[in-house]
Amino acid sequence: MLIAAAAAGLITIATSIFLTLPQPQPPSFFHSLFLSQSDNDSISHHLHTLTRRPHIAGSDANSAAAAYVLSTLTSYSIPSHTTPYFTSLAYPLHRSLTLTLPPPLPPIEFSLRQEIYAGDPYAGEVTPTFHAYAKSGAAAGPAVYANYGRAEDFAALAAAGVNLSGAVAVARYGKIYRGDIVMNAAAAGAAGAVVFTDRKDYGGERWFPEEWWMPPSGVQVGSVYTGAGDPTTPGWPSTEGCERVTEEEVEESGEVPLIPSLPVSWADGDAIMRSMGGPVADEDWQGRKDAGVYRVGPGPGVLNLDYQGKQVITKIENVIGIIQGSEEPDRYVILGNHRDAWTFGAADPNSGTACMLEVARRMWKLQKKGWKPRRTILFCNWDAEEYGLIGSVEWVEENRQMLESRAVAYLNVDVAVSGPGFDTSATPQLDELLVQSAKQVMDPDNSSQTIYDSWTSSTGGAKVGRLGGAGSDYSAFVQHIGVPSADIGIGGGYPVYHSRYDDFVWMSKFGDPMFRRHAAVASIWGLVALRLADDVILPFNYISYAHELQVSAEELKGQVLHRSLTIVPMIKSINEFKKAAIQINDEKKALEGSWTTMWKDGQKVREVNDRLMMAERAFTDREGLKGGSWYKHLIYAPAKHNGYGSTSFPGIYEEIEKAKRVNSSESWRAVQHEIWRVARVIKQAALCLRGDLT
Ligand SMILES: *[C@@H]1O[C@H](CO)[C@@H](O)[C@H](O)[C@H]1NC(C)=O
Ligand SMILES: *[C@@H]1O[C@H](CO)[C@@H](O)[C@H](O)[C@H]1NC(C)=O
Ligand SMILES: *[C@@H]1O[C@H](CO)[C@@H](O)[C@H](O)[C@H]1NC(C)=O
Repeated sequence: MLIAAAAAGLITIATSIFLTLPQPQPPSFFHSLFLSQSDNDSISHHLHTLTRRPHIAGSDANSAAAAYVLSTLTSYSIPSHTTPYFTSLAYPLHRSLTLTLPPPLPPIEFSLRQEIYAGDPYAGEVTPTFHAYAKSGAAAGPAVYANYGRAEDFAALAAAGVNLSGAVAVARYGKIYRGDIVMNAAAAGAAGAVVFTDRKDYGGERWFPEEWWMPPSGVQVGSVYTGAGDPTTPGWPSTEGCERVTEEEVEESGEVPLIPSLPVSWADGDAIMRSMGGPVADEDWQGRKDAGVYRVGPGPGVLNLDYQGKQVITKIENVIGIIQGSEEPDRYVILGNHRDAWTFGAADPNSGTACMLEVARRMWKLQKKGWKPRRTILFCNWDAEEYGLIGSVEWVEENRQMLESRAVAYLNVDVAVSGPGFDTSATPQLDELLVQSAKQVMDPDNSSQTIYDSWTSSTGGAKVGRLGGAGSDYSAFVQHIGVPSADIGIGGGYPVYHSRYDDFVWMSKFGDPMFRRHAAVASIWGLVALRLADDVILPFNYISYAHELQVSAEELKGQVLHRSLTIVPMIKSINEFKKAAIQINDEKKALEGSWTTMWKDGQKVREVNDRLMMAERAFTDREGLKGGSWYKHLIYAPAKHNGYGSTSFPGIYEEIEKAKRVNSSESWRAVQHEIWRVARVIKQAALCLRGDLT
């Protein structure tokens, strides 16, 4: 009995030693293990901890959140550090807004406060509602309704003979970047701008905490800066004591509006709209049926707005965690998400932060089982994204040379979860990998199908968006230095966006009651990263890129027809690019078909991978978009007048817009020049993929 027990004990010890020794398992074994390690409770715990207090960039609370991310990554055995920058951030000092009505109506003084809801466990102060980097000053003038504040909305007002000069433009949120709304209002001559949440777009019959809609007093806070990175250090990192441009030079850059503006709630917007006289606005400018008829103005109500802000050089902190690659430590697969929030940030952005910590936790489990990534994996938790992508831009600017030569891919998650429905955008060589990964993760809202199934059934195909907008931290990676990138999330727009109601209660009641959507985002995000880090040959397929370029060229054709312009040079380049994409795919197949060659010929593998990695860089141009722009990518960059937009060939379309206005032979030649430039970068990409010198 005793002996038998001892023998059994020995056997147990022997097997446990054997089991804990690193197993030479193939990467796919670890990738399956990664998917099986999902833990929604842990994600919920991280989110709850991160969102206890409002944590705007530069605040103590956000510094505490950075410390939490740092210590959590460290507890998962991931060596981590903090990279600080010193950046110009804006905070509100004073705000007021009054609507003066014709007598005998009394003036309305708006409180500009978001009400605390019944049962709010946080109930404390959040940052007063404001537009970051709005011009300090007062503006008074008749209210004029400008719909969504797009260029075409102001053009329609001009066509209808409505003079914005000296007026206060009243526009609603929702179609374009708020900075562009205010810029467009300023360009139309407005003295100030008020941007409201329209109940039609963000409100329901009932609202949070009963339902997921924006409460009447909820306000969408946000930045109106239209550039990227610290406005006082254009193109270089905001390190301590570095060179800076003056506030006057920032104003001259044209990237901050030169008129004051304020965001307001749907209740306040409703009161302003009900005061409006003048002609009835068009049908597509109207609000909800019960909102009363929207009129254009001007007046008779006069809006008097006053905004005073301060800009201070403030310390921000990126947290960087590193899992060193075993075979190619000098190749980086980068996961990024920001941490700073306008208020509590449960959806935006800490649903993403919680997912990043979940990916880190699962990779720690894998490491304990003997997994070592082939390439280095970086976890980047950015600061001050809300102000203008500042943490990521400063870091990319500081590390530009290293990243240009070593970054394999950048995988962004901003709002990880805001409701149901998989949503992804990427540079096209990542399409296939995203599809493959979506096929391996179950739909958190229907356990009998994969994310791929629900994604394709709701969109009629695996629809991947593109990264032409400047909506999040992928901007510096794709648009400044040309790193293949993806942006991943579940859910789309959501009504409490950037308001004080984006808190843990909202998330656990409406955004993701079981935290299974979070777990699914972590699964896809991590799986894509694991494939990029572990596959011997990088899982990039440039044929979809060629296809995408062809489609964009076809669209362009319609624009330049009958104008003595030609897109033939571009078509030629695309054809060469497509041939090169087919060729490198064949090389990949040949290598993969012969594992012994692949094993022995590390040089060849590395050479093919470098071509796959660098082809995206070739779409960037040293000069960038017109005027020495920071945006270097000629295929994907923000379109003028709408930072959220995502078109291809922004430089060409910019010149087309101009030429349509000016209609001189010179202006059309400028369009042709832009077509040539795009043709040349595509040719560069083709040469890079081929790996031949001419
Ligand atoms: C608009 O009004 C301003 C002043 O109120 C005036 O100077 C300007 O000429 C007007 N513009 C047009 C196009 O009527
Ligand atoms: C869940 O998926 C199954 C299998 O694809 C499908 O038949 C079913 O309609 C889906 N259920 C819902 C509620 O979408
Ligand atoms: C995690 O998911 C399980 C069901 O899969 C659920 O019972 C549990 O409540 C979830 N945890 C949280 C924090 O929502």
